[in-house]
Amino acid sequence: MRVPSDTEIRDLHAEHAPTREAFDLVHTHCTIVAGIAAQLLERRPAAADPDLVRAGSLLHDIGVYRLYDRSGRLDHERYVRHGVLGRDLLAEQGYPDVLGRFCSCHTGMGITRQDIREQALPIPPGDYVAESPEEELVMFADKFHSKAGPPVLVSPDTIATRLRRFGADKELRFKALLAKYGEPDLHPFHEAHGHAVV
Ligand SMILES: [Fe+2]
Repeated sequence: MRVPSDTEIRDLHAEHAPTREAFDLVHTHCTIVAGIAAQLLERRPAAADPDLVRAGSLLHDIGVYRLYDRSGRLDHERYVRHGVLGRDLLAEQGYPDVLGRFCSCHTGMGITRQDIREQALPIPPGDYVAESPEEELVMFADKFHSKAGPPVLVSPDTIATRLRRFGADKELRFKALLAKYGEPDLHPFHEAHGHAVV
């Protein structure tokens, strides 16, 4: 499979972002996630293709642009849809589902059919869970940066606390991945972007 370049992905963001602000928010987040994933992979080599991890990181939130209305406001209530919207967007652009799955399977620690039913989530029934090593790493790395409010870098303790609200199993899954990949050094991202660590 041809893995799209950083420039191609950046152009795709620029094409779909409704405003410059939205582009800055989402594209910066995606580059930080790519940086965190690369750092984790460098420190603890895993069975993941680094180029695919980078492209997946850069693409995973592309669906967020479809949640902005004409006035540039983000639909927070239906935010959980950004994953499936991203997968659809990439399919429409002719990209393979290997890339689309980075969008649909990165939310939280993965969304199951049961989660959708129990929380009445506005997405089609199904299991949206990371399966490949690349999907797993992108999903994990994504948890260390948040676009909400002022963008922040998120420490493992805060991530665990936030995930607990969605069930003890989500927190356990995160801790298992933390043991597998290790804790990223968030300092370089703080230095580069000025985002606080919470
Ligand atoms: Fe993300």
